[in-house]
Amino acid sequence: MKKEEKHRILILGASGFLGGIIYKELCSYFKTFGTYHTQNKNYEKNKHFFQYAVEEDDIYEILNAVKPTIIISALRGDFAAQVIAHKHVVEYILEHKSWLIFLSSANVFDAYSKYPSYEDDKTLSNSIYGHFKIKIENMLLRLPKKHVTILRLPMVFGPQSPRILEMLQNLKNNEPVEVFPNLIINVTNDSKVTQQIHYIINRNKLGIFHLGSNDLVHHDEFIKEMIDTLDSKNKAIYKKVFTTNEDRYLAVLPKHNLLPKHLQLSSQEIISELKYN
Ligand SMILES: NC(=O)c1ccc[n+]([C@@H]2O[C@H](COP(=O)([O-])OP(=O)(O)OC[C@H]3O[C@@H](n4cnc5c(N)ncnc54)[C@H](OP(=O)(O)O)[C@@H]3O)[C@@H](O)[C@H]2O)c1
Repeated sequence: MKKEEKHRILILGASGFLGGIIYKELCSYFKTFGTYHTQNKNYEKNKHFFQYAVEEDDIYEILNAVKPTIIISALRGDFAAQVIAHKHVVEYILEHKSWLIFLSSANVFDAYSKYPSYEDDKTLSNSIYGHFKIKIENMLLRLPKKHVTILRLPMVFGPQSPRILEMLQNLKNNEPVEVFPNLIINVTNDSKVTQQIHYIINRNKLGIFHLGSNDLVHHDEFIKEMIDTLDSKNKAIYKKVFTTNEDRYLAVLPKHNLLPKHLQLSSQEIISELKYN
């Protein structure tokens, strides 16, 4: 298949869980490049991959080598260094009229516990992680709209997600799985996130998107249902973690910037997909 010339895509954090599946989804359609951090022989040999340490390297060198028209940020690493790296990315996108797709988190709302949050709600966080995501979001929201898409993600599951792999490992080792009975969340999975991002690129969708399920679930009930689906042999031990006495919401519901029906999801779809995996 001939790759579209329309875009050159650079994924920051392409060796990670989300960066990796986004790379797989896009690389047959676009010239796609990525960064990795941890030493890895396969990436070293691959000309589409660049080793990058956010605390040490200047992202500008990779940007100048790849000349992406789209940058997808799926990084982890030191927060202060990430803020500086994103400043450099912003300089690049303004200069080269390109587009940044930033993976943000439901944690930008973690100081609001009484309601779920929508795209236009004011962000507020009590956590260092949430503060850091807000700082980058605010920097991006000051730019002309045509340069930026912010994707706020809830917890992302999927058969190969670190969260599920860790739970299955706990189960095997007879160790407890942590659940938060008071926490009301929405959720998503890796396959839906990649389809959504592909659509957002094809249709040039800009602004803020909440990429979570349309429905809300209690964290403990959802995790138990997933475990029952994945492993019927081992009996799970649950460790209930209560952070408050009252129910607390951490949910990014889509309302204003809706994707087409087939790209929306319900929490049950995540369970069903695990069943048939
Ligand atoms: N997973 C979720 O449920 C979730 C939910 C909400 C938001 N998000 C956001 O989505 C993004 C990706 O998350 P993820 O779960 O896919 O993370 P991940 O699996 O930990 O991947 C992180 C990526 O960043 C790279 N990285 C780590 N430290 C680095 C450093 N010091 N310098 C340069 N690169 C470094 C990793 O490289 P190596 O692997 O090669 O070391 C990897 O490519 C993050 O921004 C996260 O905040 C994720």
